[in-house]
Amino acid sequence: MARLKLGILISGRGSNLQALLRACAEPGFPAEIALVVSNRAAAPGLEFAREAGIPTAVVPLSAHGGDRDAADAAMTALLRAAGVELVCLAGFMRLLTPGFVEGWRDRLINIHPSLLPAFKGLDTHRRALEAGVRITGCTVHYVRLAMDEGPILVQAAVPVEDGDDEASLGARILAAEHRCYPLAVRLIAEGRVRVEGERARIEAPAPATALVNPAP
Ligand code: GRF
Repeated sequence: MARLKLGILISGRGSNLQALLRACAEPGFPAEIALVVSNRAAAPGLEFAREAGIPTAVVPLSAHGGDRDAADAAMTALLRAAGVELVCLAGFMRLLTPGFVEGWRDRLINIHPSLLPAFKGLDTHRRALEAGVRITGCTVHYVRLAMDEGPILVQAAVPVEDGDDEASLGARILAAEHRCYPLAVRLIAEGRVRVEGERARIEAPAPATALVNPAP
């Protein structure tokens, strides 16, 4: 069966991109990365893609005179030319335009380092620590116009431990992100996800007591 072609959008470190690269390198994984796009030429993640022989592109806003519509249209043209069927935001730190988000509706997913709808936006770990929550985590979801909203695909719960600071909590959540993102891609690529309104229905074994929902 043909593998689902992914386009990955990054801005920086690229550890989720690495997790997806690793997953796609496994025999039988139902997706492949066709293109990695960064809005920053200096994004360290670009190097991981190059090492893996994956085509990369850099689309800085400045190259389009600060016109976000033009930059997003350029990204869409590149993604289409590469045959991309699903766009994965992996630490892409520039706000996307409504035209891009609507143009890729239900073919555009994001990973966020909290259990949405809690702690949307930035500084999630600091705010989780300040709120004193005992459990936080990460979420993979379809992208909608409102930031960090959209049908939820996969979540993992991560405990907050005594003495945690942003760095230690962030590292624990990041490890969960690296499991959740490939799982979400696999579910979509296997055709097991149906978006119904604002909910994603997933054909998967009942998760019962699993902390990762749905179970891998
Ligand atoms: C991750 O924490 C992700 O949840 C958030 O941005 C960060 C990207 O990290 N959206 P990396 O570049 O994938 O290492």
